[in-house]
Amino acid sequence: MVTHRAILSIDDLTDSDVSRIFFAARGSLSESRKARLRGRVLMTVFFESSTRTRLSFEMAAHRLSMGISTFQVASSSMSKGEAEAETLENLFAMSPDVVVIRQASTIDRSRYAQTNCALINGGDGVNEHPSQALLDCFTLTQYFRTDSLAGKNILLIGDVAHSRVAHSNLKLMTRLGARVTFLAPDVFQEPGALLQQRTVSSFDELDDQFDAVMCLRVQKERIQDGKSISDLEFAERYSLTEERLERLGHCVILHPGPMNIGIEITKATAYHPRSLILEQVKNGVLVRAAMIEHCLF
Ligand code: CP
Repeated sequence: MVTHRAILSIDDLTDSDVSRIFFAARGSLSESRKARLRGRVLMTVFFESSTRTRLSFEMAAHRLSMGISTFQVASSSMSKGEAEAETLENLFAMSPDVVVIRQASTIDRSRYAQTNCALINGGDGVNEHPSQALLDCFTLTQYFRTDSLAGKNILLIGDVAHSRVAHSNLKLMTRLGARVTFLAPDVFQEPGALLQQRTVSSFDELDDQFDAVMCLRVQKERIQDGKSISDLEFAERYSLTEERLERLGHCVILHPGPMNIGIEITKATAYHPRSLILEQVKNGVLVRAAMIEHCLF
């Protein structure tokens, strides 16, 4: 019997769920919020490396007075040959209250139909990264002092095809009323649903002004068909330099991390006065705390 919620996709959240998460993320981590979570345990199960997502879920759990259990692939019995599937069965058998999973392929929802743990997708293959999209959109609504992104013009630059961040953000940004444009080399433009989005291949094709621009790194670890471009060519054609930034208007700068300085973004733009990149990281803890509560209550 499922007793707790799962957030595996932005589609798992209604508009009022998103508003509720943003409202909680704006509030203080009060004693009453901590009191109802004391003694509950969050388990992070990351089969891929992470800096921000795993640690900010764990920071959020700390701030909420929860216990934390961290699965580490390298020191686990997977080094003795245990498979990912059996590892997961064993971890769920320990009955954590919330499990955050990151894995290299799309999470199979049916596999967790019987679990009574709350489940959060910490990034699954090229599919989705819902907590990243929530914190990105939260950061923009906070910056623009609005509840929605209605009327905002947002540009996503880079490896759209392999970016789970782009996939979740497209869903949430458009749901919140933004107009999203992709700027990507042909090899990183995705066939299918995303192509219905306005997609261009070069900065020269853009003559409009943007409210926000998000840089995406090339997801080298996910390119299986060998179609790519060199770092040098990518940097020359797509790097967000100060000069390109000024041509895009008075926009704020986002990057989900990890950043490859000198490739998709320069140091000057990453640390530009209009960069919200560290604000994204700061908000990640608050938004993820709100997601944990949303799943449990
Ligand atoms: N944005 C993001 O998912 O970063 P990490 O890989 O460091 O978690």
